[in-house]
Amino acid sequence: MTTTLSLLTPSGRLTLGNLLGALRPMSRRQEDAYYGLSDLHAMTTTHDPDLLRSRTFEMATLLLAVGLDRATLFRQSRVPAHAELAYLLECTAYTGELNRMVQFKEKGRGVAATRVSLYTYPVLMAADILLYRPAVVPVGDDQRQHVELTRDLAVRFNRAYGEVFTVPEITTPSAGARVMDLADPTRKMSKSADAAGSIFLLDPPDVVRRKVSRAVTDSETGPSAVRPDRESKPGVTNLLEILAACGGSATGITTYGALKKAVTEAVVAELEPVQKRYGDLAADPAYVTEVYAAGAARCREVTAPVLAAAQSAIGLG
Ligand code: TYM
Repeated sequence: MTTTLSLLTPSGRLTLGNLLGALRPMSRRQEDAYYGLSDLHAMTTTHDPDLLRSRTFEMATLLLAVGLDRATLFRQSRVPAHAELAYLLECTAYTGELNRMVQFKEKGRGVAATRVSLYTYPVLMAADILLYRPAVVPVGDDQRQHVELTRDLAVRFNRAYGEVFTVPEITTPSAGARVMDLADPTRKMSKSADAAGSIFLLDPPDVVRRKVSRAVTDSETGPSAVRPDRESKPGVTNLLEILAACGGSATGITTYGALKKAVTEAVVAELEPVQKRYGDLAADPAYVTEVYAAGAARCREVTAPVLAAAQSAIGLG
C-alpha cells in the first residue's frame, strides 16, 4: 500500500494555487492517505486566535468540498505526536540547514522579533511527514525544499539510531505546481497575499472574471503573442498554465482577451462544484467536526508506534 500524506496551513483562504498544486493531485490519491490542516504552522507569524479558528474551520470544510472525503482528515494540533516527534528531530537537524530555508530567509532572518517557530517550522513539517511513514508527499513546488530536508533528517536519524523512518518521495503536478500571482506573476499566488492577485476557492464567478481580466500580461501583440516563456512572459505563461491545469486548451487563441476569457471559463467551471458542495457542508458544521475528530483519533493510533520506535531508538525508551 502506498501511504500518502500532505497538510495545508490555515494561514489564509485557500487559493487556486492550493487547488491545482496540491488539493487536486491529493484527491486522486485517497487510499491510505492522511491529509491534514497544519494549524500549528499557522502561528509562526503574528496571528489572531479568532481568525485562526474561523480559517481552520473554513479550510476543514473546503477539503471535504474538493472531494477529499475518502482520506483520513485531521488537524495537526489534535495529534500531539507531531509536536513530540518534532523535538526529537530538532535533536537531529542542524542550524546550518535551517538557516538555508527560503521561507525563514524571506520572512524573518535577522529580525529580532521573529518567532522561534518560524525557524523550527521545517522540523515540525518533517515530523508531520515522518510520523506516517508515507511513500509519497504530494505538494506544490514551493514545498520541495522542506520535503528534501525531511528526507535528509530521515536518512540521518536512521543511520545514527536505526531504521525508524521511511524516506518519502515528493510528487508535484505536471501543470499547476507553481501558480503565480495574477497581479505580480513573478511571485507565487498566496493565501495571505493581497486579494487582487489571488483567486480564492470561494470567489464568486464575477470576482474571478474581474481578477483574471486585470491579470498582468505584457505589451506584445501579433499572432505569436500567446505563448509560454517563463522568463520574458511570466503573466501569459501563468495564464496558459492555469488554463492547461483546469483542462482547457489554448489552441487557436491568439489574443490576450481571448486567453483571459478561456481562463475565466475554465476556472469558474472548476470552482463551481466546489462552491456548491461547500454551501451544503457549511450548513452542517457538526458533520465536519465529526469527520476531523474521527480522523485525528485514527492518526493518534497509527502514529503512536512510530513515535515509540523513534523514542526507543534515540535512547528514551
Ligand atoms: P501551504 O499551506 O502554503 O500550501 C498548501 C499546499 O498548496 C501548495 N501551494 C501551491 N501550489 C501551486 N501554486 C501555488 N501558488 C501554491 N501555493 C501553495 C503547497 O505547495 C502545498 O502543497 N508547510 C506546508 C504545509 C505542511 C505540509 C506538511 C505539507 C505542513 N506539514 C507536511 C506537506 C507535508 C504549507 O504551508 O503549505
